[in-house]
Amino acid sequence: MNKRDNPYTPGAGRKPRTLAGRDGDIEGFQSLVERLGAGSYERSIVYTGLRGVGKTVLLMELDVLASEAGWATTDVQEVGSQPAFRTTFARMAARLLANMARRHRARDRVARALSVVKAFSLAAPGPAELRLEVEPARGTADSGDLEQDLAELLEEIGEAARANRMGALWLVDEMQNLDTSSLAALCIAFQAVSRAGLPVAMVAAGLPELRVRLWAAKPYADRLFSYAELGRLPDAAARAALVGPASAAGVEISEDCARQVVAEAAGYPYFLQEYGMELWNYAEASPITLEDLDAVRDIVRDSLAHSFFGTRFEMATEAEQRYLTAMASLGQGPYAVAAIAQAFGASDQRRVSAHRESLIQKGLVWSPRRGQLDFTVPLFAEFLRGQRPAP
Ligand SMILES: Nc1ncnc2c1ncn2[C@@H]1O[C@H](COP(=O)(O)OP(=O)(O)O)[C@@H](O)[C@H]1O
Ligand SMILES: [Mg+2]
Repeated sequence: MNKRDNPYTPGAGRKPRTLAGRDGDIEGFQSLVERLGAGSYERSIVYTGLRGVGKTVLLMELDVLASEAGWATTDVQEVGSQPAFRTTFARMAARLLANMARRHRARDRVARALSVVKAFSLAAPGPAELRLEVEPARGTADSGDLEQDLAELLEEIGEAARANRMGALWLVDEMQNLDTSSLAALCIAFQAVSRAGLPVAMVAAGLPELRVRLWAAKPYADRLFSYAELGRLPDAAARAALVGPASAAGVEISEDCARQVVAEAAGYPYFLQEYGMELWNYAEASPITLEDLDAVRDIVRDSLAHSFFGTRFEMATEAEQRYLTAMASLGQGPYAVAAIAQAFGASDQRRVSAHRESLIQKGLVWSPRRGQLDFTVPLFAEFLRGQRPAP
């Protein structure tokens, strides 16, 4: 098939031609939009999952739906990659207000909210300042106390949204990057807007540890948000993710080939896209068959090893890489920290836990519960076992 027309989208945050298995999420979100728009209460949503399961593209889809429903949105924003929390959230707030300003409705309200955003960003100026050509408001969101200020900022945005008869949606990606005090401030702020019945919601996404981190920041976070875990797609959805893009282009994938790909990709969206892409590039004509799969299997594995696993593995130092390999040598996760240390074979426990902490920081592993560790990348253990001899 012509490479130029390849309909598959392996990569981070690349919108798939067929967004498979998300009908329930979309319906749930649509009812959230309706209920909040009607002044009812609805919990914001936190999605968690390993890398490559489709968190970012789901947020992108919900962004589109919210915009179609006339809501203002922040667009999907990756947070925490820079330390200035205030700047990041002020920028998002300014985006929401820019959306609202297009309505030309409650102009004074929007203008006032913008001056509050400015005040919020100035209360503890970060390295990258937000440029806003307005005078900062006085006495709202500028106390210097993050919890109080963020709550006031969100209320201000909520009031402006209500005055414009629209909702405001915060789309927060990679939320596990935020530190505990930022997470606590977000809990307090969303608690405040929901108590005030304002049409403000958040859809957030992050690695699996996010849920525990939120809970640690504010115990009531468990009830404040509704949580959904994204993982491998069920077989029918996985097959749709594979077959859909080709089929839309008039190309078929044979039944047994599709079934085999779904099994090999273990239902993970990223892997399915990678298989689809290579199959498309290789196959001469429709239908794509098992023979094509046999021919591209090594290419897919090699490509995954480089693009998906390899780049992650390279983020670790040499000692950390040995630590990861020791984990993988223990079989299926989650892994007991003590067992990893033993497989790693170091006598200096302080050093071992430093590796562990650093790998958590880098987002390569996470702790499902105390004393346990697992990979954040699906099938990483299998990759490591295939690639490197166990220590
Ligand atoms: N529901 C889905 N159906 C088909 N492909 C998907 C789906 N969700 C994600 N993908 C594909 O999977 C890959 C990873 O998606 P992404 O949203 O970046 O994952 P995450 O944010 O969880 O790491 C992308 O190549 C994307 O096109
Ligand atoms: Mg993502």
